[in-house]
Amino acid sequence: MDKVLSGIRPTGFLHLGNYFGALKNFIKMQEENDCYFFIADYHSLTTHPHPADLRTNVKNVLVDYLAAGLDPEKATLYIQSDLPEVCELSLLLSMNVYIGELQRVSSFKEKVRRQPNNVNAGLLSYPILMAADILVHRADKVPVGKDQEQHLEMTRDFAQRFNNFYGVDFFKLPVAYNFGQELVKIPGLDGSTKMSKSDNENSCIYLSDTPEVIRKKVMKAVTDSGPIEPNQPKPQAIENLFALMRAVSSPETVQFFETEYNECRIRYGDMKKQLAADMIAFIAPIHERILELRSDDDYLRKVVRLGAEKAHESAAPTVRFVREVIGIKPL
Ligand code: TRP
Repeated sequence: MDKVLSGIRPTGFLHLGNYFGALKNFIKMQEENDCYFFIADYHSLTTHPHPADLRTNVKNVLVDYLAAGLDPEKATLYIQSDLPEVCELSLLLSMNVYIGELQRVSSFKEKVRRQPNNVNAGLLSYPILMAADILVHRADKVPVGKDQEQHLEMTRDFAQRFNNFYGVDFFKLPVAYNFGQELVKIPGLDGSTKMSKSDNENSCIYLSDTPEVIRKKVMKAVTDSGPIEPNQPKPQAIENLFALMRAVSSPETVQFFETEYNECRIRYGDMKKQLAADMIAFIAPIHERILELRSDDDYLRKVVRLGAEKAHESAAPTVRFVREVIGIKPL
């Protein structure tokens, strides 16, 4: 059975883009693989969140994960900071990582541009910590988006380097987990091609949004004055509405509005009303569970305790072996 691992930085609520881009696939993956899903709270410290926000964000991601269907019995669901082995492995790996290669990482360069007043060492060493997350479990596969591919490649470099340096065949070289066909791209409501809260809060539909909020956001989605000739290609914002509809509505509904569009009869107000109703219905069961879980701290604590235990069981032998190979052993 493959070991699959994925981490997410807790920066807020999860939206439909997160759901269709990853979460939905995680729910399937947990049936056939030995899955590790963790909340990367250490990584999120690189942007200096307020302590109270950090705590609520960790809780919100955990709740959203569980509500969407991740099963703490099937997968290992844990919080990064509950697994101290990660810190030790990160430190040990760092001795064979060179400052130059860290400075050349695109996400680092991007951060330097975006937060020039907070270029902390954690940003620079971010790929080492991420490699430790993966290697500590000796994971086979990591589902990653385009923006994380370079990090995964560095993880393989560090793993191979360790193996070569100490003449062992210990770390496996993790590869990207490809969802292939099943990957559905969810656009934003503001005409952007990707639902992303860093661009615009209102372009996102969160799993925890109430029906009223969903309706309001959808009705405000960007449209235009409609096609003037039949069977024309759709402008981006309109294509986005259709893409969202394909995700949550029935094929018949999508077909109906396609025809309306192609025959220049479309009324975007009607289409949005339908889209909002279908989104609300789609999210309703998840939303209900979110409300239940939010007020059940006892259960959440049980989940993370179990997760930490299982993660520790997987990670401890790795660190034990690495210490020994490096020469850290009893006198
Ligand atoms: N860097 C990832 C992101 O920003 C989060 C992350 C941290 C991660 N550690 C990981 C993802 C290990 C996969 C594996 O999205």
